[in-house]
Amino acid sequence: MTQRKKTGVLISGRGSNLKSLIDAAQQDDFPAEIVVVISNRPDAEGLDYARKANIPALVVDHKEFETREDFESKLDEALREYDVELVCNAGFMRLLTEHFVAKWLNRQINIHPSLLPSYKGLHTHERVLKDGIKITGCSVHFVRTDMDSGPIIAQAAVPVLTDDTPDTLAARVLEAEHKLYPHALKLVASGQVRLLAEQVIIENDDTVTAPLFAPPL
Ligand code: GRF
Repeated sequence: MTQRKKTGVLISGRGSNLKSLIDAAQQDDFPAEIVVVISNRPDAEGLDYARKANIPALVVDHKEFETREDFESKLDEALREYDVELVCNAGFMRLLTEHFVAKWLNRQINIHPSLLPSYKGLHTHERVLKDGIKITGCSVHFVRTDMDSGPIIAQAAVPVLTDDTPDTLAARVLEAEHKLYPHALKLVASGQVRLLAEQVIIENDDTVTAPLFAPPL
């Protein structure tokens, strides 16, 4: 295999998506390796997943910086120290300025627990249940300055059940996230993803065309 893409993961909390990326990257044939994990919160539980896997786990605490720009330059510096080529935001809860986004343009991806461009922002599952939609899901996209926007790389559809609560729905979507994020990173790191204007083209796309019915047929 050609050189694996050096990947940095940005987190703020639990880190279950980080764990799914670490697990996937432990496979020899995975086209990316996680070389550093950075949290903006010192108490992020996810840092332990990195430590256990012997991956450098750094804290760049946004509260220690006077401006967003100062925080981001430190973040950028840390990523460059580890020769990072791709950045994965995994539950990273800071909005990034256009300056940082431009530095990592088309080299930074994010996972969001909805079928974008619907339900950007927080409390997606509550809003999905309130609206009564029957299918939701998760998306991985390239990062742009506007929150949860940018060319979509991959999505998973997840049915909403009648007796779902925000927690049961979140758990079902999260299970899909844990498969989707490594899949999307693999596509990007292996060079199967191409951008045409602001649309992602996947090389050798053999997506199954069967629809998902909710409720089922
Ligand atoms: C996930 O639902 C992710 O889609 C969203 O924040 C949550 C992070 O969970 N951006 P975890 O920290 O990866 O467990």
